[in-house]
Amino acid sequence: MIMKKNFYITTPIYYVNALPHIGHAYTTIAADALARFHRLQKEEVFLLTGTDEHGLKIQHKAKEAGKEPQEFVNEISGDFKNLWRKLDIKYDNFIRTTDPAHKAAVEKVLQALYDKGAIYKGKYEGLYCVACEQFRSENELAEGRCPDHDIVLEKIKEECYLLKMGELQSELIGKIESDEFAIRPERYKKEILSFLKNEKLKDISISRKNVSWGVPLPFDKEHTTYVWVDAFLNYLTGLGWDGSQTFNVGISPALNFEKFWPADVQLIGKDILRVHATIWPIMLMHFGIRLPKMLFVHGHIRSGGRKMSKTLGNTIAIEDMLSKFGADGTRYLLMSAGTFGEDVDLTMERMIEKYNADLANGLGNLVSRVIKLVTNPKSQALNPKQFQGIKSKIQNFISNLKIDEALEEIWKILRQNNKFVEENKPWELAKSDRAKFEKVMEKLVLDLYLISELLIPFMPETAEKIKKALKSKQPTILFPKIK
Ligand code: MSP
Repeated sequence: MIMKKNFYITTPIYYVNALPHIGHAYTTIAADALARFHRLQKEEVFLLTGTDEHGLKIQHKAKEAGKEPQEFVNEISGDFKNLWRKLDIKYDNFIRTTDPAHKAAVEKVLQALYDKGAIYKGKYEGLYCVACEQFRSENELAEGRCPDHDIVLEKIKEECYLLKMGELQSELIGKIESDEFAIRPERYKKEILSFLKNEKLKDISISRKNVSWGVPLPFDKEHTTYVWVDAFLNYLTGLGWDGSQTFNVGISPALNFEKFWPADVQLIGKDILRVHATIWPIMLMHFGIRLPKMLFVHGHIRSGGRKMSKTLGNTIAIEDMLSKFGADGTRYLLMSAGTFGEDVDLTMERMIEKYNADLANGLGNLVSRVIKLVTNPKSQALNPKQFQGIKSKIQNFISNLKIDEALEEIWKILRQNNKFVEENKPWELAKSDRAKFEKVMEKLVLDLYLISELLIPFMPETAEKIKKALKSKQPTILFPKIK
């Protein structure tokens, strides 16, 4: 019996203090495209996404909105789900940190870590950034402000529980160096290694006394769990893991945890790399669970050369993109915006231009030209051996998370075909040279099948529409031009 390959991919879970935005969509679309690609390779795939619903930031926002925290997070979590539906995201589970099963697992883990002495009682003093939900060290600050959020930090000094970090530091370095726990792109691996080699990790506070909106510590109900510790465990509970340490003795083969852990790819933005490369693996090591195979770090979306921000007025609303470009148009424009792994810069004007060039004129035109002229429906789906070269090229790009390069490869074929149409003018051949016309059309139809197949992970609805149009010979306007 041939064992199916498994592929587990996660997105960060998103804070529900505000509505979903383009940055959240960027990661989630990438994860969905990768998951769909692996499903097509006949692998068993699990895509996990969800929402991060505890902590001070959310507690404050709920209060401002005059709502109970649970009611508040229910609403915004629902907004995330709605957006994913509109963007055609096919996830296998949507985890919420307020799910009772998740909370029960968090309690179990904390109790176990406390019992084995990895967590101990102490004091912590530091500058807390509510937007990061993290303590920031003095030397990171810009005039007393958080470098990422430009807000003045709160000085906190309180009794808390701490997680031992330093004792596992050199083991962690070894796992990162050997790529047992790979961090990609490579420069982020270097960055983390140099940080870990130069600074001794401080034990971190894993509880808060004055934050009521969180999971109470099972051994001291006056404290709630630090929101990041709670959040990281989603990657395990999202698979149905219940927090018990019997995970490796074959309790239930049906359990997705046994099947899918360790994760193959964990996608994260660069702002949350440090915590994902320190606290998260150290929690797992204390607990004796294998580390994820890879953390893949992507850049940020910027606009007009600057960070997107409401004050600068340069934000691009994801809903706006959806209504202008549709789901597949939005997916394409975000995934082809620039190198996946580096910052990308977007403006609405440039996206409209690209939409018109690549989608309305490029893909849309090719499809409508071919469908208009196709007479012979006998050309059908590709046989598995056809186009092996190009398919493995794309597979290679995807294995290395070069999503934008995979798309560029597809667009190369597309542009060649548009050129081929112009050079051969099949509408003239139809009258003057029937034999040549048939040959030209055969190539075009075959290439269009190829294109539609290659597009499935990135633009699933469009891929389907092209295949249908080829079969029914019904012309279709895939992407109306934007004036
Ligand atoms: N809740 C935490 C993650 C916990 S995971 C155990 C969190 N949430 S977040 O909603 O603030 O951010 C989620 C992701 O969105 C991060 O990966 C972040 O990098 C990404 N983005 C936020 N703004 C972004 C852009 N402008 N561009 C691209 N991604 C960005 O952090």
